[in-house]
Amino acid sequence: MPKVTIRPQRVSDAKRFFEIITNPNFKHTHVPVKSVEEERKWLRGNVGRRKKNIEHNFAILYDGYVVGVIGMKMDPHHKHIGEIGYGVDESYHGRGIATEAVRQIGKIGFRKLGLERIEIRTSVKNKASQRVAIKAGYKKEGILRHAFNLRGKFVDDYLYAKIKKD
Ligand SMILES: CC(C)(COP(=O)(O)OP(=O)(O)OC[C@H]1O[C@@H](n2cnc3c(N)ncnc32)[C@H](O)[C@@H]1OP(=O)(O)O)[C@@H](O)C(=O)NCCC(=O)NCCS
Repeated sequence: MPKVTIRPQRVSDAKRFFEIITNPNFKHTHVPVKSVEEERKWLRGNVGRRKKNIEHNFAILYDGYVVGVIGMKMDPHHKHIGEIGYGVDESYHGRGIATEAVRQIGKIGFRKLGLERIEIRTSVKNKASQRVAIKAGYKKEGILRHAFNLRGKFVDDYLYAKIKKD
């Protein structure tokens, strides 16, 4: 069976990430990056963000090939809380890749980053992402009205979460 792994993002991932995250079919998310150079610049900032415990970002690999991105954003006010965000290359959807990556980053969050609670927020319309959260063991806690500004339009999110003992 093909193997899903995650590893810290590298500046050399820029071109591949840009290709993945700017897919116009990703209707429920928006990453405001305009060029590979801009992506490269953002990736250069990862070292500082990791050191300051602001964000911990990873590439998702499928049998060693980069197929997605996943990250843990630390809550600036409640350091025991992290939030996961992710995206997978459309041609690799439906193979359980995001679910496995969420499981792996969750372990890092609870065991290495000292988190007590991890959240996933998904648009109420994003059925695939809701399935990922459920399959990875996250519980739906409620609805966050107008929590996300999607290209100028406020949309509702569901809030999913897992705590360390779950
Ligand atoms: C959400 C996303 C990361 C899922 O990646 P993936 O690797 O395909 O996820 P998995 O294969 O682990 O699981 C997807 C599940 O959603 C289901 N699914 C996909 N589209 C669906 C739909 N329209 N309605 C209901 N279920 C759907 C799949 O059948 C699968 O569930 P199953 O295993 O029970 O059959 C991917 O769709 C993506 O990159 N979307 C764009 C970015 C995005 O929305 N990110 C999430 C932001 S919170």
